[in-house]
Formats: sequence, C-alpha cells, structure tokens
Amino acid sequence: MQKKTLSDISVKGKRVIMRVDFNVPLDDNKNITDDKRIVESLPSITKVLNDGGRLIIMSHLGRPKGKVNKEYSLAPVAQKLAELLSRPVAMASDCIGSEVTEQVLALKDGDVLLLENLRFHPEEEANDPGFSKELASLGEVYVNDAFGTAHRAHASTEGITHFIKTAVAGFLIERELLYLGKALQEPERPFVAILGGSKISGKIDVLENLFKKVDTVLIGGAMVFTFFKAQGYEVGKSLVEDSKVELALKILEEAKNKGIKLLLPVDVILAAEISADAACYPASIASIPENMMGVDIGPITAETYRNEILSARTVLWNGPMGVFEIDNFAAGTMAVAKALTEATAKGGTTIVGGGDSAAAIAKAGLSKGITHISTGGGASLEFLEGKELPGIAALND
Ligand code: 3PG
Repeated sequence: MQKKTLSDISVKGKRVIMRVDFNVPLDDNKNITDDKRIVESLPSITKVLNDGGRLIIMSHLGRPKGKVNKEYSLAPVAQKLAELLSRPVAMASDCIGSEVTEQVLALKDGDVLLLENLRFHPEEEANDPGFSKELASLGEVYVNDAFGTAHRAHASTEGITHFIKTAVAGFLIERELLYLGKALQEPERPFVAILGGSKISGKIDVLENLFKKVDTVLIGGAMVFTFFKAQGYEVGKSLVEDSKVELALKILEEAKNKGIKLLLPVDVILAAEISADAACYPASIASIPENMMGVDIGPITAETYRNEILSARTVLWNGPMGVFEIDNFAAGTMAVAKALTEATAKGGTTIVGGGDSAAAIAKAGLSKGITHISTGGGASLEFLEGKELPGIAALND
C-alpha cells in the first residue's frame, strides 16, 4: 500500500488531529501494565511537536459501549504520555463539543491535547458522518497512527477522512506495513511461519494466505489436536474442533500439493486439567491417554521447531504453542520465543504478529531480541489474512 505519511506533509503552526491506539491494559489501580502502544506512538508525536504542530490526540480505551464510563477514561494515559514526553499533556473532558473546540483553538505550537475516550459516543463505532465531521473540524490535517484499530471502519479511523483533505499515515503504521507487508510480499527465504492458538477456525484464513508465500509452517497450540484427530490419533480430553476435522485434512493435503513443509508436534505436554498445580509430563502424540489433555508442545518438538527457525531468513510468529499463562505449560512457547531471538542475532528478520504471542515474548523479557513486534492483535491477524484494513485504505495515496 503506497500511502502518504507524516514525512510528506508540513505541520508547522497547524492543528494536527492524530488517531492513535492507546487501548492499553490497566490494573485495578489504573496503572498501565504495558505501555508498548504509547511508546510506539512517540516517533509520530515527537515529530509533530518538534516541527511546531499543535497536536490533538484521540483514541479509544476498552469497550464502554457508547456510554460515558469513568472506568474507561484516558486520564491515566495522559499522565503516562506526559511522563514519556517530559512535557505537559492537557486532557479534555470529552472528544467533541464547544468546550473541546475552545481548548483546541487555544493550543499553541508544540502543545498537546488528549481527547477523552472516543467510544463514550456510540457514533464512533457506528462510523456516523456527523460525528466524523465534528472530529475532522478540530484539525487541519489528520494523521492515523492507530495500527491496532486499523481493521475497524470507525468515525475516527475511516469516517473522518471524508471530511479532511490531508489524511496521512503515522510512522507506527508505516513501520507495521513495512515489516508485515514485506513478509507477505517479498520475504527473504527460507520463510518460516509459526502458527499457534486454540482453534483452526481462527487461523484458517491466515494459513491460506501464508500458503502463497511460505516455505515452512510450524503448528502449535491446541489446534494441533484437531489435526491429530483427523489423522486418526486418540487425543484424550484435548480441545478439538469436531467441525474442522475435514478442514484439517484438506490443509495437510494442500500443503503437500504446494510443496510446503508443514510440521506438527511429535510430542506434547499432558495434564489432567488446565490449572497451575496440575501435574504434567511429556508424551508422544501416539500415546495420549483418555483422561489427559495436551497443554503445550513437547521438548522434542520444541527442539525441532528451534532448528527450523534458526535455518530461516524470515520468521513470522502468531499464536502461542500452549497455555503459556501457566508456567508449567509455557516451556514450548518460551522455547519458540527464544529461538526467534537467536534467529534475529544470526541476521534473520523476525516478526511477531501481536496479541498473545507478543504478550508471551514480553513475559519472557525477550522483546528487544525481535525485529518487529506488531502493536495490532485483530488488525495484524486481518492484515496477515490478506484483508484490506479500512483505516489504512482511507488515507491519501
Ligand atoms: C485492540 O486492542 O485490538 C484494538 O485496540 C481494537 O480494539 P477493539 O477490538 O475493541 O475494536
């Protein structure tokens, strides 16, 4: 996608309205537990401020369902942003209305104003034209840097572009498109994709799209048991999507016909239940007892997957290998995370497609060893499925 970016426009003395994705996790005391999305927005924000723009930032937080709900206020984010920027960040009490307009018109070059949660208004998710127009009226130019929300055609991501002439991508979106786009279009080979997660149904479109480009696919997560069932194995109490057993066979057949090396685990970690104190042990996939379930890939598989990852020039990972939130079931996911950092150190390009795998990498403290970790969960998945993201499609070509 060839889109204009922040580098292509001049912002000096202009009101710049910027959509970011500050949908960050908060604990019960409203402390931000992962500020990655804010930190990754800083290059665009500082560019506007250093160039003398007047910055109006807007975002959603959570799903307040179109109603004002203090639980979902962006106030903690304003505080965090001020800390990261080492300058004051004013917080508006709403995102539209006369008071907000006054605050916006009082901005001077280099000032920052954060609007309150867009989703306090039902018109945001409804992509209402009147609401889009009101948001657009606050700025003279529009920058979208909310990659995590680019798959939503909402007023602040898509609707607004109909009411403001200059609508460009920020540096975060540019970077996401560079890495995720290059992997899909012209990956350096060998190109290895690792797909995990619980359901084939959640990953089938990604698999189909990756089959056009990839050399090797490594499969993990509970979805492997649907494949095993399709191959006639006993899977015990493991999670299986019975309606996808046929599909699993088709996927195996398609990979074979296309000459793609598709690997499934040869061993798994078994437990009687998903609980932190459940006893667990590794076993061959050919010996899963009736009363046990698979909760992670086994050590032999982890080593095989590591070797495949180390032989690659491009590695793309989406979805954990097991129930990594429980330490006893996290070894497979952590082994893959570690292998990715080793591949990066060898000069390969490693990309993590957001969501749970990004959380696993962060939990392992390995984020710095990865070439690119997407800030998008649903958005990166849709991008990898080959779908057009409305928030990006709407920007100036
Ligand atoms: C996300 O966290 O994936 C984005 O912020 C989008 O949030 P949503 O799924 O509530 O639209």
